[in-house]
Amino acid sequence: MSFSFPTEVISEGMVQAAVPRLKAFVKKPSDYGPSKAPVFYNPAMKLNRDLAVLALQAFQRFHGCELVVCEPMAGCGIRGLRLAKEVDRVKKVIINDINDEAVRLARFNIEKNQLGRKVSVKNEDANLLLSRFAKPRKRFDYIDIDPFGSPIPFLDSALRALRRNRLLALTATDLAPLCGVHFKACVRKYGGRPLRTGYCHELAIRLLSSALVRSAAKYDIGVKVLYSYSLRHYVRLYALISYGAKNADNGLENIGWIHHCFGCFHREATAGTFKLNRRLCPECGKKMETSGPLWIERIIDESFLACMERESGIKEFKNKKSIRKLLILAREEANAPITYYRIDKMCDKLGLPMPATKTVKSRLEGKNYKACLTHFNSHGLKTDAPAKVVKDAISGSF
Ligand SMILES: C[S@@+](CC[C@H](N)C(=O)[O-])C[C@H]1O[C@@H](n2cnc3c(N)ncnc32)[C@H](O)[C@@H]1O
Ligand SMILES: [Zn+2]
Repeated sequence: MSFSFPTEVISEGMVQAAVPRLKAFVKKPSDYGPSKAPVFYNPAMKLNRDLAVLALQAFQRFHGCELVVCEPMAGCGIRGLRLAKEVDRVKKVIINDINDEAVRLARFNIEKNQLGRKVSVKNEDANLLLSRFAKPRKRFDYIDIDPFGSPIPFLDSALRALRRNRLLALTATDLAPLCGVHFKACVRKYGGRPLRTGYCHELAIRLLSSALVRSAAKYDIGVKVLYSYSLRHYVRLYALISYGAKNADNGLENIGWIHHCFGCFHREATAGTFKLNRRLCPECGKKMETSGPLWIERIIDESFLACMERESGIKEFKNKKSIRKLLILAREEANAPITYYRIDKMCDKLGLPMPATKTVKSRLEGKNYKACLTHFNSHGLKTDAPAKVVKDAISGSF
């Protein structure tokens, strides 16, 4: 088959796929190949797709069910093809894209991988497609929303098209709103206040989770976050969707606020969906800034993660080292305190030389505080120690 643009064949996981030859679309150094090509393909998202394979496999082992999968924004189809080929007991995958050229490429890739019996392609708006599958007994077991920017416009139709107790994956690449650079855009899209703190990537996950929980509650659907992470230009969330008003109410009980003091780095969380109660910092007395409403419960579920880790030991990935590193950090983070301290930012502000993050960690542990590293940032530390103690640990004054 020929295409109206240059392509090349790559292999990723267990599939081979024709993708746009990105170099051909880079005319000047500032050009970003994936967004210049007529069909979207981003090699840097391989790790994201590897983890999707692991998460769906972990979910399948947990529930023992056959899976009908939907990737409503599929580009060249590589993610959906990998799920079809690499995850056990996937019965059917529907991939879809609004872009005609993407759909042609995806069709070609299905044939190339001899997956015609398992994978089918549609060419329509994602919301339209998902709504057509919202009827009971037509719904999906897994939906993977991987859009340009925010997944918010697709949340309602995805929730309606999922069977009970099934898995929803969301990617959000609009970090400028979620991390507080574009404050108003975050308020508009996510219905929440972001904050430009050192731990804004964690806040981004919590704002996205909160938006999901509140969307789901309208349909009497509850949400449990099973796994989430932030890498480079995006955040990613895997959530279990369960039906019932009680589940929806439980989800809402985990919505709250994080208050941050820009004077002394103190932070604290409070529960409550509606109340934005401004407060004064108990450590330095300064007025604190608030982010929310956001999800203040766990953003990683220990047992789901353990299952992903087991699968990562079984499956073969070129990225195995990076995957293991991410999952091992996540294991520590699963039960760690909310937010993290950025040692580099604190040293900047305090005019202190920067010790190794691990040194600060051991000093805190030496004083019987919990402390763990975080995948969010190599200078980040999650701890239950107050900001004042973290400062002492940085300066080595105890
Ligand atoms: C980030 S790319 C998807 C990449 C793909 N999931 C992967 O892993 O390689 C987003 C895709 O969404 C498609 N898209 C954008 N708006 C859409 C809509 N309303 N309905 C369906 N597809 C849409 C774009 O054409 C693009 O291919
Ligand atoms: Zn303070």
